[in-house]
Amino acid sequence: MNKITVIEGDGIGPEITKATLEAARAAGAELDIEFMSAGANALKEEGELLPAKTLESIKKRGVALKGPVTTPIGKGFRSVNVALRKTLNLYAAVRPAKNIEGVKTHFEGVDIVTVRENTEDLYAGIEEMQDKDTARSIKLITRSASTRIARFAFDWALKNGRKKVSVITKANICKFSDGMFLDCARNIAKNYPQINFEELLVDNACMQLASAPQNFDVLLCPNLYGDIISDLTAGLTGGLGFAPGANYGDGFAVFEAVHGSAPTIAGTGKANPCAMMFSCVLMLRHLGQAAAADKMERGVLKTVKSGFLTADAGGSATCSEFTREVIKNM
Ligand code: NAI
Repeated sequence: MNKITVIEGDGIGPEITKATLEAARAAGAELDIEFMSAGANALKEEGELLPAKTLESIKKRGVALKGPVTTPIGKGFRSVNVALRKTLNLYAAVRPAKNIEGVKTHFEGVDIVTVRENTEDLYAGIEEMQDKDTARSIKLITRSASTRIARFAFDWALKNGRKKVSVITKANICKFSDGMFLDCARNIAKNYPQINFEELLVDNACMQLASAPQNFDVLLCPNLYGDIISDLTAGLTGGLGFAPGANYGDGFAVFEAVHGSAPTIAGTGKANPCAMMFSCVLMLRHLGQAAAADKMERGVLKTVKSGFLTADAGGSATCSEFTREVIKNM
């Protein structure tokens, strides 16, 4: 039995979390769950976006499964996700994107993993109005965090039998910040002669990803490019409804879908729970519950392959109908 924290989140968060936990239980996952809140719901009910007791629970339990939370654009509060990643020092986001049989896509044979630095870059939150017509955001990149994420990406590649790591920057323009990120990646790459190392500028990387994504393997990215590119790779492999994610730090791990709270479809039954279910599969593997992870993954893959799909993937199943089918197919 593993102790975990679960945050249902906002929008479609509660629906896909309920679906995911039902499927996990049916697959035999042994989870002792503490439900905690964060996001717009937490603000309404507890007056805080990221209550201290939610953080305490994750710190005590070490592992969390998190639904998406709403962050208003522009003025207002800072992102809960950014705060969570910074507070727990969840420095590495790992976002796999792989073709799934039964999901229509433009390309076959895509199997890409984005490893995104999760604590710095424009997400450091150093932003100010210099005067009423001039805004300034600082892109913060440090040698220690860049080296740490590069080492993580190469270690991950090695452990998972991957062949190539492509580092993605705009080092020709951001010579100091991205230049240093690239320099750190080059230094770490020297220690991994078994892994091919490739350097790409982010604009060229996007063009190549959109035209020949099969050529890519592991992508090592600073925070902003990783955020954008992992949505791009999600689009290549079936859309946000299928894209899982994991955030790792020293001693903590938070598993969550790449997508957001999708407020326009919340409560309509249209949410695709696959991304959250795949995130849960990653969590179960992390916890050493491989049999339950395999069973849950099998159920999802078989359901999708059979053409039983939610609306975003061209089907008509609701979130709960899809979940029942997953459980039947385990
Ligand atoms: P979004 O990912 O919520 O939605 C983008 C599009 O994808 C929408 O058309 C939505 O309906 C669709 N979509 C997303 N997930 C889906 C699913 N599981 N099934 C079916 N369709 C799905 O991104 P958006 O609209 O930019 O952001 C909405 C809110 O979510 C914002 O407040 C944003 O800050 C927040 N957000 C939270 C994240 C997190 O908590 N990890 C990540 C990204 C955004």
